[in-house]
This record gives sequence, C-alpha cells and structure tokens, in this order.
Amino acid sequence: MYESEDSAQAPAATTAVLTGLGAWLPPREVTNDELCAHLDTSDAWIRERIGISVRRRADPKTATGDLAAEAGARALRSAGVTQADAVVLATTTPDHPCPATAPDVAARLGLGNAAAFDIAAGCSGFLYATTVAAGLIRSGTAGRVLVIGAETMSAVIDPEDRATAPIFGDGAGAAVLEAGRPGQAGSLGEVVWGSDGGRADAIVIPVGGSRNRDGRDAAPKSERHVRMRGNEVLRHAVRRMTAAATRAAAAAGWALTDVDRLIVHQANARISAAVSEALGIPPERVPSNIATVGNTAAASIPLLLTDAAADGALRPGDRVLLVAFGSGLAWAATTLVWPAGLQAER
Ligand code: COA
Repeated sequence: MYESEDSAQAPAATTAVLTGLGAWLPPREVTNDELCAHLDTSDAWIRERIGISVRRRADPKTATGDLAAEAGARALRSAGVTQADAVVLATTTPDHPCPATAPDVAARLGLGNAAAFDIAAGCSGFLYATTVAAGLIRSGTAGRVLVIGAETMSAVIDPEDRATAPIFGDGAGAAVLEAGRPGQAGSLGEVVWGSDGGRADAIVIPVGGSRNRDGRDAAPKSERHVRMRGNEVLRHAVRRMTAAATRAAAAAGWALTDVDRLIVHQANARISAAVSEALGIPPERVPSNIATVGNTAAASIPLLLTDAAADGALRPGDRVLLVAFGSGLAWAATTLVWPAGLQAER
C-alpha cells in the first residue's frame, strides 16, 4: 500500500526507473597540504597513490542526516516531485546507533509517514539500496522511492592514521526511483551482488557496536575508528568489481565494448584504472571525481552520477555500467540506459 497521495501508480508490469538525482557536499575543503601538517605523508604520495587532491569535511555540528536531507531535497526537486512512499538511506555513519537516520530525513523532507530505513553495506551501500528500492517497486510495495547515500566519514576516521585519513571524504548523493515500463530508458537492470564476510576485518571499526562492549569505554582511539588493510582491500576490490561488472553487463545483453560509461565506486584512482583496464573500457568512458571529493563510501556512486550528469558526461541513451565494492566485504554491479531529460541538481 502506498502512503503518499500523489505517488506514481504502478502499471501492470513494472520496473524501477531513475527520474531524479541530487548531491550535496559540506563546504569545507581539506587539501593534502593541510593533512601533511599533522601526518607523515605528502601531497605527491596522496595524488599518485590514491588520486585525491582535496576532500570535504563536515563541521562537527553537521551529521549524516543533514547531508542526506540536503541531497534528498535536490533529488526530489530534480524529479519534480514532493512525495515518496519510502526513503532508503545507505550509510556507514548514521546519526545514532538507534534509531535509523532515514525516518528523521523523511520527516525533514516533509514526506509524511513514508516508510524509512537505513542500509549498512559500506561503499556498496547505494547500489544495495537501489536494489532493495527497485524490488519494492517491482513488487508493487512502493511506487516511488527516494534512495540516498550519505556519509560523515570524518566522524569515524582517526585524523592521525595515514592509512585512512587521506582517503575518506564527507558528502551525500540521492536518486528518485519510480515505477515505469520494462525497457524504458532509466530502468535499472539486473543486479549482481555478493559478500565475503570471511574478510570482514579488512575494513572494521572494532569497538562501538554490540561486540567488545565490555571494553568500550577504555578502548584506545585506534579501536574506535576505521582500521583498514588497504593493500588487501585494493586487490579484492579490483577482482570482485571486475567480475561483478562483467556479469552485470552480460545480464543486460551487452558486450563490454557496448558500455558507454563505467561508473565505478571512487575508492582509489588506481582501483578504477585497474578495473576499467581489466574490462577493456577506455579511460575516456570512465568519469571520475575522486580528485576533488575523495572516497565518500556510500555517497560515492550517487555523487559521481550527479557530477557526470551535470557535466554532460552522461547523455540520453548511454549504456551505463555501475559497480561498487567496500566493507563487508560487499560488492554490487548493475546497468541502466541513461534517460532523456534528467536534470541532476548539485
Ligand atoms: N603516505 C605516505 N606513505 C604511505 C601512506 C601515506 N598516506 N600510506 C601508506 N604509506 C606507505 C606504507 O607505509 C608503505 O611503506 P613501506 O613500503 O615502507 O612499508 C608504502 O606506503 C606502501 O604501502 P601499501 O599499503 O602497500 O600502499 P598501497 O599502494 O596499497 O596504497 C592505499 C595504500 C590505502 C592508498 C591503497 O591500498 C588503497 O587505496 N586501498 C583501498 C582502500 C579503499 O579504497 N578502501 C575503502 C573501501 S573500497
């Protein structure tokens, strides 16, 4: 049952179609040189080994829900709508351990009693959230869903850890998905997704959840922030994203040479280059914004989609292959043909 009165009515055979896109970044830029003031690193190392020049940081009073509400408002405006049946928020950095952040975001966006919940799937969170949202639409449970990826990574990064501090940035991106006809431009294709929990400790915040709770208050700083075995993550990211993207393209009936744009999670410019090379997709078909936003985890894919659409790098009819990988370890890939008339707002 749909709650909202002006919700899109699901036709007999439905698919989930992208109708709006928006993004928001906190204004404060943190340059590599600023990081070098208190970290044993260099601007040249960060640019060459990660591909980042600058990232954004939210001020201490700004939380993930604030970023999500800004991006969500832009996506709703981009779609030309004011209501949604559900809000699905992908984040690793919720405002509170309880409750979920999505209901507060829905209320702030004036979405009445829309169903609202969070999804925790690390950097794959946005593609997981779109998959769940598309399932709600295809099953007739919702006619329109606002999907948001938002992160305040600065809240969980140890500023003195050179293995993580240069990489992550804060930001939010959002998409509106609505019921449409199968085959319509903008329809999400099949998803290829998976996880490998046997390697969960490759990216982990050891303390703060229900495990290790006895030592929570006494835990050292390193246990309360993201700890990452970067080189291991890098190797698995390339392998899993290449395999998932290959299968998602095949599920859409596309040869990899048919792909006009590869939208790859902005983890590290070297990871994106290795995945596109393994897939045989040339660099000019692989938009990137990691240099100016860093790795924004669950916000990465919608931020890149919004930037690429606003910059004219995504044109109506383009065959778009999307792929992400991150903590869990978890990965996902899907496809869509870029719709006409979508005005992304950032
Ligand atoms: N500045 C300078 N030197 C650094 C550094 C930094 N910020 N971070 C690591 N190093 C050093 C290491 O200490 C090591 O020195 P050594 O050879 O003397 O031991 C050397 O650089 C190489 O370290 P390594 O970890 O092998 O580097 P790398 O090429 O794997 O790059 C990452 C490190 C973190 C940038 C890279 O592994 C990465 O991006 N991984 C993916 C992370 C990610 O995206 N995670 C999010 C989820 S997808």
